[in-house]
Amino acid sequence: MWGGRFAEGPSAVMREINASIPFDKRMWQQDIAASRAHATMLGEQGIVAADDVAAILEGLDAVAADYERDGPADDLVLEDIHMQTEARLAEKIGTPAGRLHTARSRNDQVATDFRLWVRDAIDAVLAGLDALQRALLDRAGEHAADVMPGFTHLQSAQPVTLGHHLMAYHEMIARDESRFADARARMNRCPLGSAALAGTGFPIDRDATAAALGFDGPTANSLDGVSDRDFALDYLAAATQCALHLSRLAEEFVLWASQPFGFVALSDQWSTGSSIMPQKRNPDAAELVRGHSGRILGCMTALMVTMKGLPLAYSKDMQDDKPPVFEAHDLLALSIAAMTGMIESATFRTTRMREVADAGFATATDLADWLVREAGLPFREAHHVTGRVVARAEALGVKLEALPIEELAAIHAGITPAVFDVLSIDASVASRRSFGGTAPTRVREAIATARAAREKG
Ligand code: ARG
Repeated sequence: MWGGRFAEGPSAVMREINASIPFDKRMWQQDIAASRAHATMLGEQGIVAADDVAAILEGLDAVAADYERDGPADDLVLEDIHMQTEARLAEKIGTPAGRLHTARSRNDQVATDFRLWVRDAIDAVLAGLDALQRALLDRAGEHAADVMPGFTHLQSAQPVTLGHHLMAYHEMIARDESRFADARARMNRCPLGSAALAGTGFPIDRDATAAALGFDGPTANSLDGVSDRDFALDYLAAATQCALHLSRLAEEFVLWASQPFGFVALSDQWSTGSSIMPQKRNPDAAELVRGHSGRILGCMTALMVTMKGLPLAYSKDMQDDKPPVFEAHDLLALSIAAMTGMIESATFRTTRMREVADAGFATATDLADWLVREAGLPFREAHHVTGRVVARAEALGVKLEALPIEELAAIHAGITPAVFDVLSIDASVASRRSFGGTAPTRVREAIATARAAREKG
């Protein structure tokens, strides 16, 4: 393709280090689509004759059919998917194939193909996240009023509902969805027609190719168009943030599935056994989701470091942009699907959650709040009195609500039997009706709002 000024071919190692076909063959559909758009435009602009364009388009269809059947070949001589497509086109249609590369460079070609690929990747991720969100909403709805311990420092803090806890993840993932949507909107400009770096002297129509490929318009600067990969980094940043959220949820599943917690039983489909310990049911999928998040972060770091020192415009370093994006995408897609499956099929052990919520003096804050409200104490004093009540309950080995009223009144004369109304975990969660709070009424409201927004799209 570029041998005109060379007397000798490249060495075998040169070939190997230079070739990107082993990974960029994954963009063959995008490569064909971009070539079709480019050829069509060349015809419409009178740059290439109509019969040649017709031959090129027919030839590209034939190449696509070959790719569909056998995939692109791992042929290092042809370097990359762009050269392989052109070479195959030449095999099919002969001379007119040589006209396809008019007013185009592999630099704007790869920038275009890769944007198209990342755009498709975002659409796939968004579809996966939609299923995950629906699973979270379903399970949250089932457990809107089931009480579990809420933690800070992983110490029992205040009771919450399982529905509320799951909806926290729904919120996080909703922001991830919006990050992907933002990235998609921002990247949706077409670099095709930037040519090698400076644009072209041919009378091309960049609006036409951009529109044909579903972009909002062409990129405005040819140097930028061929040499930035911020669109890929936007994708990786959104992917990393999303993976991080999935990792926290996965970590909770790992903890909750452990015997000391016993909050969740993962279904058989999402558990693995041990080759030596017959009793084991290991949460491997959750552990791998947690693990994959580290690799996804590594992919983002890799591309950032690749890009950070490159002068404008294209440098071959940029060929290394694709493996980390492909890897991160595969890991993320798997993680989302695995998390969705685990959530859909998990059995939440609500009786056990309730027992634990009931055992940790988790309604102590409710007692302090009651003292403020009903006995007029300043909160600091109420906190101190409640601390003494907890110490007494601990000494007697009973829950707060099981303390005799005489014991309570002995600690503070303002405490009356009415206090028992707030000491149960159900009363505690029901009282937390502030917007965004854990009261079952609020949780159901949040679920309904989220469902309505999702149906609207
Ligand atoms: N395979 C190359 C890549 O992925 C395509 C662009 C090659 N451009 C060049 N001037 N050598 O970046």
